[in-house]
Amino acid sequence: MIDTEIEEEINRQINEEMYSAYLYLSMSAHFESLGLKGFANWMYVQYQEEMDHAMKFYRYLHERGGKVRLYALKEPPHEWKSPLHAFEETLKHERHITERINFLVDLAERKKDRATFNMLQWYIDEQVEEEANDEEIIARLKLIGESAQGLLMLDSELGQRVYVPLVQEGK
Ligand code: FEO
Repeated sequence: MIDTEIEEEINRQINEEMYSAYLYLSMSAHFESLGLKGFANWMYVQYQEEMDHAMKFYRYLHERGGKVRLYALKEPPHEWKSPLHAFEETLKHERHITERINFLVDLAERKKDRATFNMLQWYIDEQVEEEANDEEIIARLKLIGESAQGLLMLDSELGQRVYVPLVQEGK
């Protein structure tokens, strides 16, 4: 049986990951409304990945005999000043998620819950990748500046991103 404090914090993390999904789906809808189909695709893939992150915690809690509780989701913003602004907000949000994962790791360590500690290592690696992806796109958007041509080229590139389900990856 899983420790009740860890159970509660994993339930909070399911909510955090689902909010991440909701936020990125809102960004995807925003980019769709601007005709930036590639940015919309990138954010839609991100939304799908976040649902996977939530469901990985969901499955884990069941495996450990815990009870999943789904809490209310916050309403995400609907507008961003520019693609750069949206990606800066994405990075800020991912840094917050990284802090949450680090907090969970510390809690698992304090409670000597090695299974949870072990499961969380996947999320540590995932956060490194997520922050790096956002940083790279932010750097490119800064280089592009006001160039519409540069923005459309990046849009076309971001349109190539393909969702790979976690279950298919065997994770
Ligand atoms: Fe699931 Fe982007 O953190």
